[in-house]
Amino acid sequence: MEFKEELKKYASIVNQELEKHIIKDECPEEMLNASMEYSLISSGKRIRPTLMLATYRLFKEDYESAFSYAVAMEMIHNFSLIHDDLPGIDNDDFRHGKPTNHKKFNEATAILAGDGLLNRAYMVISKDIECSSDENMRTRRIRCLVEFSKAVDRMIAGEYVDTEFEGKEISNEYLEYMHKNKTGALIRVSARIGGILAEASENDLENITKYAENIGLAFQIKDDILSEIGDEKILGKPVGNDRKRGKITFITKYGIEEAKNKLETTINNAIAELDIFGEKAKFLKELAIYIRDRES
Ligand code: IPE
Ligand code: IPE
Ligand code: MG
Ligand code: MG
Repeated sequence: MEFKEELKKYASIVNQELEKHIIKDECPEEMLNASMEYSLISSGKRIRPTLMLATYRLFKEDYESAFSYAVAMEMIHNFSLIHDDLPGIDNDDFRHGKPTNHKKFNEATAILAGDGLLNRAYMVISKDIECSSDENMRTRRIRCLVEFSKAVDRMIAGEYVDTEFEGKEISNEYLEYMHKNKTGALIRVSARIGGILAEASENDLENITKYAENIGLAFQIKDDILSEIGDEKILGKPVGNDRKRGKITFITKYGIEEAKNKLETTINNAIAELDIFGEKAKFLKELAIYIRDRES
């Protein structure tokens, strides 16, 4: 299958699974549910769950047993986006080509929708663990939960560092720390969960982890580049706001050309980690290239 076609297929599987978790009941918190749905059911690229499912498939034929974690990951990701856009953090008005959650609803609802998605991710995972009949599978799922919760903790820490350093000087080391945490952590754990659920050996998991750490960092470098010189219409979110707000990015630190070089090197390092898997890792290699070349 062509890469683009396969990418679409993964996104559509994820979208189908996400739909199952939408609550449409008539109830006093109907608007809160609508607010969560507004962010979750979107034109998001579904990169993290795609990475999880594709990594799983490196080791096993099916991927159904990774669905709960794939859904939970996208819930956490959207929680992070809703809060990231809030006036107290990035104060952005557009995402996915439409008003951000707090603009569409209101700030209180957006904060609670973020909290709601954060908690629902754990509801999905805990249900999945409760329902595992196989003891071995249950153990692996619990290991994933431990890693998942640590990654969410790191994402939040990275977001904190991002807000804390706004308008200030930052060392190269702290800049990389911020990117690896705010964006890298969820990407890293997505790949690891795919591998753990599919019973990858610890050795293979090592390579997968290094691959994912590299694409995680690259993903945010590219996000910084797009935020500076991207096309707002394709991107669906504002261009130039990072600079306006005094955000610390790879561009403010290194300039656009050096940032592009770092992106290229990081992607090459990622791809090299997959060599041991041969032809089977074709999609994951192409995913790294896609992250480098994406326009949205
Ligand atoms: C945007 O992530 C936020 C970052 C961590 C850089 P994505 O580009 O993956 O967001 P989607 O595709 O809009 O969901
Ligand atoms: C987003 O970072 C990271 C998280 C939401 C955890 P950015 O603030 O750079 O991402 P965009 O550009 O708003 O999507
Ligand atoms: Mg931000
Ligand atoms: Mg932002």
